[in-house]
Amino acid sequence: MKSRDTLKINDKGHLEIGGCDAVELAREYGTPLYVMDEAYIRKVCRAFRTVIAGYPDARICFASKAFSCKAIYRIVEEEGLGADVVSGCELYTALEGGMSADRIYFHGNNKSRRELEEAVAAGVHAVVLDSFYEIGLLNEIAAAAGKKQRVLVRVNPGIDAHTHHFIQTTRVDSKFGFSVADGTAAEVIRTVSGLSGLDFAGLHCHIGSQIFELKPFELAVEKMTDFIARLAAEGITVRELNLGGGYGVTYTDEDKPLEPQRYVEAIVARLKECVRGKSIAAPTLVLEPGRSIVGEAGVTLYTVGAVKDIKNVKKYISVDGGMFDNPRYALYQAKYEAVAASRMNDKPVCTVTVAGKCCESGDMLVVDAKLPEMNSGDILAVLTTGAYNYSMASHYNRNAVPPVVLVNGGRSAYMVRPESYEKICELDDCPPWLRRA
Ligand code: LLP
Repeated sequence: MKSRDTLKINDKGHLEIGGCDAVELAREYGTPLYVMDEAYIRKVCRAFRTVIAGYPDARICFASKAFSCKAIYRIVEEEGLGADVVSGCELYTALEGGMSADRIYFHGNNKSRRELEEAVAAGVHAVVLDSFYEIGLLNEIAAAAGKKQRVLVRVNPGIDAHTHHFIQTTRVDSKFGFSVADGTAAEVIRTVSGLSGLDFAGLHCHIGSQIFELKPFELAVEKMTDFIARLAAEGITVRELNLGGGYGVTYTDEDKPLEPQRYVEAIVARLKECVRGKSIAAPTLVLEPGRSIVGEAGVTLYTVGAVKDIKNVKKYISVDGGMFDNPRYALYQAKYEAVAASRMNDKPVCTVTVAGKCCESGDMLVVDAKLPEMNSGDILAVLTTGAYNYSMASHYNRNAVPPVVLVNGGRSAYMVRPESYEKICELDDCPPWLRRA
């Protein structure tokens, strides 16, 4: 287990997170349970803020898609961050969580009329345009509301970052952004600049996620500043440059990310150089990390149930969660590290596959985990589950999405409360012709 600041082994030999004994958390709140470490989240936010202080005007926005619930916005807002949202409900949650609208960026490749209306009404800092369709729609909505909506244009600089195909977002065939190479991006910007309901403020790009190298980010800065210089020659000013997120985190020992702030440091340094070298006005820099803020802050606790040994073939230990709380193995064959939270000092003696409880053969959490002998009733922790787990959870097999508990300095409390059967069924309705007297 890579040492993580607030993840420890306590004197009972149990996993400890945020000063709380994981086995006691499991007993108190039940399993499956998402646990989020507040100190870790705040530490990463502060490290980002310290680094961007070296640039004249920069802002960090938390990418809500990684983990959205009201309390997370309270934390990141207190740390001086803004937020990027991608749906009406992420916007609603951010506002309810106390994030001020003028720190919010609204993204999405197919925002609905309602979502655009909500964004304009809330007064978000910017809407990030990603289709011709929404340009006209947003212009009309803003004009009807008597506003001039600030917008960024999402462009595709055409960088092939080395990461899982499904998580890449800026290959030429990506559904996101307007291509810089074929002139579409410039055409969109000219169109937007001529519309009375829109205020063209700048550019956005996001080159991918779970990237370990600095090079793709530096390349993005170079390509984007080239484009800014070309637009400047046409008399179009780019006031803001939003470079998305994408900094890698450690899931298993195979992952070797840099410290999160190193990516930001490299981006800031290259941007300063490019601004100088290309004689362009320094744009406000905006970054949108998600995974690097909450990924390693999260742990999911499970209780081991069935243990199945297929002789000479494979050993499964099944837990009370699965793809409904973490679909990332099923979707991306994502790798995770599992530890025996109740027996951290026991040597790993067997290789087992941690299976979920859903009716789906691909419902695995960790393939070939190295663990001590595990018995029914043991508490198992899967590490680095703070990003894209709760946010991508589902009710498959009508399982409840687990609650989320925040821990800090030995204290624990819900960020998201548990669901009951009744809660899950609350919105079910019965068409009149099926009703019985
Ligand atoms: N900004 C934009 C516009 C994005 O599309 C994303 C991620 C981010 C920021 C944040 O990226 P991060 O810092 O978290 O890497 N479901 C996948 C991840 C998809 C990420 C999509 N966009 C997963 O579970 O790995």
